[in-house]
Amino acid sequence: MSDQFRTVIEPFRIKAVEPIAMTTREEREKFLKAANFNPFKLKSEQVIIDLLTDSGTSAMSAEQWAGMMRGDESYAGSISWQRLERVVRDLTGYPHILPTHQGRAAERILYSHLGGEGRTFLSNTHFDTTRANVEFSGAEAIDCVTPEASRADSDFPFKGNADVERMAELVAERGAENIGAIILTVTNNSGGGQAVSMANARAVRDLCRKHDLLFILDACRIAENAWFIKQDEEGYGGKSCREIASEMFALADGCVFSAKKDALVNMGGFLALNDAELAEHCTSVLIITEGYTTYGGLSGRDMEAIAIGLDEIFNEDYLRYRTRSTAYLGEHLDRLGIPVIKPIGGHAVYVDAGKLYDHLPVDQYPGQSLVCELYKMAGIRSVEIGSVMFGKYDDGGKLVPAPRELVRLAIPRRVYTQSHVDYIIEAFERVRDQRHSAPGYRITWEPKFLRHFTSDFEPI
Ligand code: F0G
Repeated sequence: MSDQFRTVIEPFRIKAVEPIAMTTREEREKFLKAANFNPFKLKSEQVIIDLLTDSGTSAMSAEQWAGMMRGDESYAGSISWQRLERVVRDLTGYPHILPTHQGRAAERILYSHLGGEGRTFLSNTHFDTTRANVEFSGAEAIDCVTPEASRADSDFPFKGNADVERMAELVAERGAENIGAIILTVTNNSGGGQAVSMANARAVRDLCRKHDLLFILDACRIAENAWFIKQDEEGYGGKSCREIASEMFALADGCVFSAKKDALVNMGGFLALNDAELAEHCTSVLIITEGYTTYGGLSGRDMEAIAIGLDEIFNEDYLRYRTRSTAYLGEHLDRLGIPVIKPIGGHAVYVDAGKLYDHLPVDQYPGQSLVCELYKMAGIRSVEIGSVMFGKYDDGGKLVPAPRELVRLAIPRRVYTQSHVDYIIEAFERVRDQRHSAPGYRITWEPKFLRHFTSDFEPI
């Protein structure tokens, strides 16, 4: 008989608990209206299950909390920094490590230097802060994801792959000297949390070598990505996820890393680079805007927790549970007839709200409608990643919609148990049964950048 049980349990037990405040539908309707129908503006105690993001929402381990007590808060040369630097260098192989307070600080430092008017960045998909940092510098960010990604019926395991042929065409069109960098986001968050294969990373590396381009990994979910490679890519079944991640780092010239995901902490990040000259420039900006080189924007205790988290994340019992529990939610929603992106990604389940609410046109933001319905129904907070997040206006002020109207159910790491997930599934059953009565929304106020965070809405 196999040693493996059908039931994949949470490979941890719970030492500290946080109460969840239960609310009624009537209360939630009031809260949502006060938040101008933007769940980003809800107060956390108004939320029952928070699937807004997997970023900075992890439960830390006893070991990480113990590490926090050891945190060395010296301004320069802290022991905690030395530990973090060693761990990151061992994992990534990059010699120059710059600590930052989170991922987007690393992005700002790097892309403001590489960007500027006339520059182009190519990526499988730029995450929203990545795109904003690139565009804020005056450069252009172009997504080149594999065409497989938009085939709903395909269960190709690497739908996060870059379309390397398309990238090569763009390099030829724009001129290699005008390319700021090629950024491979693993897993591909905005594309569906889908994995990128090692073969694809290798193809990107080859393209970069050929034209002398900089290859940057946006590596914040690289452990989850490594798990998928181990399961689905030929030749990797016998390797450890840590080895697989290291192999991928070795293909690139550096990485930006938000530690708030696969380093299992609530705050932190880093930039790591091979090139000494580039690192020197970035270090100057780091000191001016984040902090001295041995802490960036971080406390010693944060650095200690990241160093430990980067080790824990590669525990394969954890990664099995992590990916299995995300898939459990996705598969149950699929069985209910909720259109989900397949295969299910590592950190989140993506629901196609455009299909679920096919009575709503894109300019009435079906994704925003689903996000609001889930909250009213069950106190579940999720995030729209459709035309609210990625939509633009043409010169005539008409909405240019995103390719798909998705809603992301991001799963915080080590936080929710199976009964929480069963509750979410039950909520979706009700959402499905009442789908025809979900209203459209219009935007009543919006800022210039990253409008999904702060826009106001009203139901139509
Ligand atoms: N890159 C990717 C792929 C991300 O998912 C994020 C953050 C960042 C960069 C920026 O990192 O938040 O530490 O500044 N993603 C969060 C999310 C916000 O909800 O997906 P950060």
